[in-house]
Amino acid sequence: MTQYIWWQKGIIYQIYPRSYQDSNADGIGDLPGIIQRLDYLKSLNIEAIWLSPIYPSPMYDFGYDVANYTAINPIFGTMADFDQLLVESHQRGLKVMLDLVPNHTSSEHAWFLESRSSRDNPKRDWYIWRDPAPDGGVPNNWLSYFGGSAWTFDEQTGQYYLHQFLKEQPELNYRHHEVLPTMLNEMRFWLNKGVDGFRVDVICLMLKDDQFRNEPPNPEWDGKVLHGSLQHIYTNNLPGVHDLIRQMRGVLNEYADRMMVGEIYMPYEDLVTYYGQNMDGCHLPFNFQLILTPWQAQAVREVVELYESVLPSGAWPNWVLGNHDQHRLATRVGANQARVANMLLLTLRGTPTYYYGDEIGMEDGTIPPEFVQDPPALKQPEVAHIVGRDPERTPMQWNSDPNAGFTAEHVIPWLPLPADYAERNVAKQETEPTAMLKFFRALTALRQTEPSLSVGDYASVETGVADIFAYLRTAPNSDRFLVVLNFGALSFESAEHRLNLSQVAPRATIAVATDMVRTGLVDLTSLSLAPNEGLVLRL
Ligand code: NOJ
Repeated sequence: MTQYIWWQKGIIYQIYPRSYQDSNADGIGDLPGIIQRLDYLKSLNIEAIWLSPIYPSPMYDFGYDVANYTAINPIFGTMADFDQLLVESHQRGLKVMLDLVPNHTSSEHAWFLESRSSRDNPKRDWYIWRDPAPDGGVPNNWLSYFGGSAWTFDEQTGQYYLHQFLKEQPELNYRHHEVLPTMLNEMRFWLNKGVDGFRVDVICLMLKDDQFRNEPPNPEWDGKVLHGSLQHIYTNNLPGVHDLIRQMRGVLNEYADRMMVGEIYMPYEDLVTYYGQNMDGCHLPFNFQLILTPWQAQAVREVVELYESVLPSGAWPNWVLGNHDQHRLATRVGANQARVANMLLLTLRGTPTYYYGDEIGMEDGTIPPEFVQDPPALKQPEVAHIVGRDPERTPMQWNSDPNAGFTAEHVIPWLPLPADYAERNVAKQETEPTAMLKFFRALTALRQTEPSLSVGDYASVETGVADIFAYLRTAPNSDRFLVVLNFGALSFESAEHRLNLSQVAPRATIAVATDMVRTGLVDLTSLSLAPNEGLVLRL
């Protein structure tokens, strides 16, 4: 029988540490806070927690500007706290993954301070420095994701340095022979401690064109976010980047059962190359298509079928519904469809990655202008509603107390709590049999115990109804499951659907229903499905 590894079978749950649980009343979440919540995390039937960066950082990009890769930011606690978190997580059977940010450091990292100190410093070429253009301007037209040019002029040494994010995030130069070996050792530091894997930030940006050619205009640009105005053919997905990743994978292979998942926003044909030619690249290149695809049954079905058809042999699939860079799931698809979306994520073939708070249906917070903190929003106010990420980073809603149990009552949390926290929180949902949290646990518990759902095969089922996406999950010697999802909301055109699915089986038993009320046997010759309803059916 095939043996599956933890990151194939289980669910990865992303924690944004600033926002999970504050233990020392400074308004910012921390590692001791996460330790306090480990029993809750275990109760979600997840396999691993991934922590967004916890390293020392001036926090210009909230930790994605790393000033030291092998230490803990005092805001989040101490190395002893981290060690305790690792031990206590492992005691509960939870894996721990860290965020690795190899593409750029903080401008306050010792390496960059050396690099910028003089043109002949030995670390000068650890970063990407270029002379000004003949007119004194930027070396080329490359853009920052966060607005404006990707180049900043350094007065002291008279050259520009590259940063595709903030000017406080200078990019490392992986064409310099010392940089990758150094980063590999930073990885080993955590792997030696027992960390189970890494989520690797913008892994596909790690190499840039060595001729620094201008990027061509993007004819499909919608005129909104400036970064979209160019085709990023000289800064993203450069041929040699796979070789860097292969060497990172080699480090993981020095240890047992460690993994990396790469952050890569790309069409499938390019994305799947990141598994590596011989499955020696990322264990999982993140598959973000459920976030990027219009929320319609047939569009989602097409994405699933396309992904299934392009996955190379030996490549393990994965799916993501939300993260700290995307508007909240419940805000994107609506509160009713959020249940359908959860059912989809947790019954598709492939490792699900889940964003904290989605299990209680958290929605984007409203951030008053004086509280806006996210740099892309501050730098590009005209598109702040699109690029701003504060709304999806609000504190976890634990209970109905002032500050929702996230921090002490007298403290101002680093981001304001959404207005709905007194109604929507963990404590309340623990008492409600049909709450989102109960629904999430029902799905994760089923997935955990049923091989068909965690590792089984996938095949779609024709229903003849545009609003419905249905599929089968099967594994040898295990119960088979039929998942039927109604993407249609209650409207004039789209009310209840009645389906004949007798080609699959005459009848089935409801294992989980989106309303957490419907149970029992159903007749598959005439299966009714209400708007926003989804069913996981045991055949
Ligand atoms: C992707 C991360 O997810 C995002 O939060 C960050 O701002 C950029 N990379 C830069 O590190």
